[in-house]
Amino acid sequence: MNNTVKKVNPADTMDENFQLFSDLTHMEHEQIVFCSKPEVGLKAIIAIHNTTLGPALGGTRMWNYSTEKEAIRDVLRLSRGMTYKAAISGLNLGGGKAVIIGDSQKDKSESLFRAFGRYVDGLGGRYITAEDVGITERDMEWIFAETKFVTGLPKEMGGSGNPSPVTAYGVYMGMKAAAHRAYGSDSLSGKKIAIQGAGSVASHLAGYISKEGAELYITDIFKEKANKVAKLTGANVVAPDDIYTLNMDIFSPCALGGVVNDDTIGYLKCDIIAGGANNILDDEGKHGDMLIEKGILYAPDYVINAGGIMNVASELEGYNEKLSMEKASRIYDTILKVFDYSEQHNITTIAASNRIAEERIKAIAEVGNIYSSKSHFSKRKGEIYLRDRS
Ligand SMILES: NC(=O)c1ccc[n+]([C@@H]2O[C@H](COP(=O)([O-])OP(=O)(O)OC[C@H]3O[C@@H](n4cnc5c(N)ncnc54)[C@H](O)[C@@H]3O)[C@@H](O)[C@H]2O)c1
Repeated sequence: MNNTVKKVNPADTMDENFQLFSDLTHMEHEQIVFCSKPEVGLKAIIAIHNTTLGPALGGTRMWNYSTEKEAIRDVLRLSRGMTYKAAISGLNLGGGKAVIIGDSQKDKSESLFRAFGRYVDGLGGRYITAEDVGITERDMEWIFAETKFVTGLPKEMGGSGNPSPVTAYGVYMGMKAAAHRAYGSDSLSGKKIAIQGAGSVASHLAGYISKEGAELYITDIFKEKANKVAKLTGANVVAPDDIYTLNMDIFSPCALGGVVNDDTIGYLKCDIIAGGANNILDDEGKHGDMLIEKGILYAPDYVINAGGIMNVASELEGYNEKLSMEKASRIYDTILKVFDYSEQHNITTIAASNRIAEERIKAIAEVGNIYSSKSHFSKRKGEIYLRDRS
């Protein structure tokens, strides 16, 4: 056996075109933490985008990225999105996200998650984590064993539980606001609405919509999931690819991101796009413009699906389901505000929501310039959110 360790020059492993610091500058991140603990197989990245409004909150995703560059890009993009989502939702939270590089089916262990929890704890509350793709409640319990900076815990553990019902309610309210703008009435009765995906958010959303007497269409790559929702709501089940070509009033993507793209946009025949999925537009600028040309009103994804983060934020202050639903109902007014801004400034709705979010962050940063007795003990920076979890 050859015991000599081959020396690798780190510079040789870098992609010459990959410029991490220029990405950080361009996307305006505050801090990136690379967490490496090979003994337990942990390779994770925590990205804190902006903490002007409060501690950075965002879930941890476990994904088998094909390259490390892909993982970095994902965590940078997702954490930035959380800043905008919290800001436009009126929450006193910043934006952050974490990714664990690994196969969620094979690479999990208690030690891996507890090591990750220690890295989160080391940030002293600048980053608060939650569940995201590839992470289960059991994994969260392991993280929670090492840090109190965790949210979205199961109800049995004093947490807020599954956020999907609140997310769906917010999407429903945002959809009604879009209907109000497009049709002059927010009633969904008789409207032909197509939902893509029949998962947690979609099934709750379908419940709200069907009660209003809409003509509902639903699809899922697992037909039995679509059938189940159809049985409860009277929806019509269609094949996954057929959802794009339906003659519909409202298209509601509730599965994956990037579904409004170069390949699909030409087929869409609808007045409104309002769905729960994150990053619905493959390219915000290009596809936002194309939707305007097609006369389709787009309710920006991170505005309309913010019920989930509202639910989690409520947990940090002492969970109150009624208050979370009340906050989610305000998505109706926020969506109308975004549409107004977009019309006044002649920009896309997604550009309008980005600007409103940025304006709030800038304005609140200004408030911090005023000296107050609280300045040095500011509760806005985290501790208000954390019950005694030690
Ligand atoms: N759960 C929340 O509270 C929440 C909050 C904000 C945003 N979101 C976003 O909403 C979306 C749905 O979340 P969820 O919690 O309901 O997830 P989920 O996994 O419960 O549901 C997603 C469903 O989409 C289906 N699907 C995947 N690809 C598809 C395709 N090409 N065509 C048709 N169906 C497809 C899956 O089979 C699954 O049933 C995700 O994009 C998520 O990021 C969820």
